[in-house]
Amino acid sequence: MAKPIGIFDSGLGGLTVARAIRTAFSTEDLVYLGDTARVPYGTRSAGTVVKYAIACAERLLSSDIKLLVVACNTASGVALGELQSRLDIPVVGVIEPGARAGVKATRSGRIGILATAGTVASGAYERAIHRENDTMNVFARPAPLFVPLAEEGWVTGEVPRLAARRYLGPLADADVDTIVLGCTHYPLLSKTIHEVAAELLGHDVTIVDSAQATVETLTDILTPTPPGLELPGSLRILVTDLPGQFGFAASRFLGQPTQGLDIQAIDL
Ligand code: DGL
Repeated sequence: MAKPIGIFDSGLGGLTVARAIRTAFSTEDLVYLGDTARVPYGTRSAGTVVKYAIACAERLLSSDIKLLVVACNTASGVALGELQSRLDIPVVGVIEPGARAGVKATRSGRIGILATAGTVASGAYERAIHRENDTMNVFARPAPLFVPLAEEGWVTGEVPRLAARRYLGPLADADVDTIVLGCTHYPLLSKTIHEVAAELLGHDVTIVDSAQATVETLTDILTPTPPGLELPGSLRILVTDLPGQFGFAASRFLGQPTQGLDIQAIDL
């Protein structure tokens, strides 16, 4: 039997990555682990996030996964190297792909990053972008309120626009032409971020979704299913806490209702 792909995130936001993988590789079986009991990771110390990331990875290994996708930017920023050295399967994070896509998209060489405080403090996007091209100017800013706004489904209108204006101000001052969404939750606010950034800058800006960029990286690793053998892959969701509002929040990130999905609460 084909082995599944393991994906983990601090919570439900990484379902945006699971959704992008399902769209591109519809025959793959996925096991998603959301550490909903310990979210958010973005405000915690690097040492704590590394510890949590190892626990998530080990739990997914017990499902005999063939590949691990670290969908959480914060965990990718501080724990990817540790996971890659511990695991003997490929481990893919979201930062390298997002950084590469940002470098490819920019014309001016001025790239903005929006991410959690933990990801910004890790400097992981700057390092990844400079590995691609060391002439790039990178401006990384934390945008913490975007996480609860995405969870609330409050992604358009005056409140998210106000938050966007505040967070994007320094990126507009830096005159970036590309903004990488370096957090699982931010793609839900992509339209608002795009509009407000263009207003502040006075010109259009390219928005890079690191979830989408990660899927493009997986094309190098995954073998396409032979024609005639395609069957829709399964999605299993493991969560460390199953709150009452789970279905409402999860369906927004996943882009489909969660009824009928295999969802299980686990202890780590
Ligand atoms: N998943 C986190 C990330 O992509 C965002 C939410 C959190 O802070 O845990 O950085």
